[in-house]
Amino acid sequence: MNELKASPAAVFAHRHLLGIEGLQAEEITALLDLAEEAVEVSRQVEKKKAVLRGRTQINLFFESSTRTQSSFELAGKRLGADVMNMSVASSSVKKGETLIDTAITLNAMNPDILVVRHHAAGAVHLLAQKVGCSVINAGDGAHEHPTQALLDALTIRRHKGPIHDLTVAICGDILHSRVARSNIMLLNALGARVRCIGPSTLLPKGLDRLGVEIFTDMRAGLTDADIVMMLRLQRERMDGSFVPSVREYFHFFGLDAEKLSFAKPGALVMHPGPMNRGVEIDSAIADGPQSLIREQVEMGVAVRMAVLEALAQNLPNG
Ligand code: CP
Repeated sequence: MNELKASPAAVFAHRHLLGIEGLQAEEITALLDLAEEAVEVSRQVEKKKAVLRGRTQINLFFESSTRTQSSFELAGKRLGADVMNMSVASSSVKKGETLIDTAITLNAMNPDILVVRHHAAGAVHLLAQKVGCSVINAGDGAHEHPTQALLDALTIRRHKGPIHDLTVAICGDILHSRVARSNIMLLNALGARVRCIGPSTLLPKGLDRLGVEIFTDMRAGLTDADIVMMLRLQRERMDGSFVPSVREYFHFFGLDAEKLSFAKPGALVMHPGPMNRGVEIDSAIADGPQSLIREQVEMGVAVRMAVLEALAQNLPNG
């Protein structure tokens, strides 16, 4: 007898995507499978689906963004939504309006999906309790960046196959990184072996409780890794001296050919961007044959299409 398989969107039965925390492996896999279809759509001349036709998507970014905001805009448009990018710089936030009042005001215009980036951890969760539409976390402080972890997983899976049993080394400023937190949870959920490498000043307390191996030496941490995921040194979030100098940081923790040679032959290099060349990664590696950095950007659009499509099916009248 033929087994009836649930559609990927049906497996993901959530109203919001606020984080990777709490998602089941099969929900993550369902989103990745849906994103594979979106890759195909995005590579066609006619890049349109109609699953969000008639829906309104508002992108509300309180922090700067190139990749996430533009890919959410493209993703919504490719699915047929009316997409509005709310410019915080010219909004009433500048006149002292709070995040919640801004959200309630936008909610009164009956959007279906709100995509939010905010500098405060937890702000997007709070906002989701105040509005009637679906909310997607596009990055909240140093807390979570779920669509980044999903696009990273999609990129890895397309090159290495199933993620379980791969060794993934996440390197650099783990302390300030929402990308690291979301990736640790997602990779653990899918059964990967996760390592975190960085100077002890940039490794958060309690990291050992997240199910990772911890290294303060790049060569030891990179030994036999399948994937090397570099992180940006987030100097804008540092309120003290976490590294002696950029020069010294690059010497010990910047990814160059010599350090990469400790990983498995054919290991792949990733970076969520924006990257600081010569700070956490050498240009020759960022642009070299082992780099997946540009492909991550392409997968970003596909993953955001998948998330929008899955949430749209759970909207009222979806
Ligand atoms: N990776 C990422 O979130 O990039 P942006 O800040 O450009 O959106």
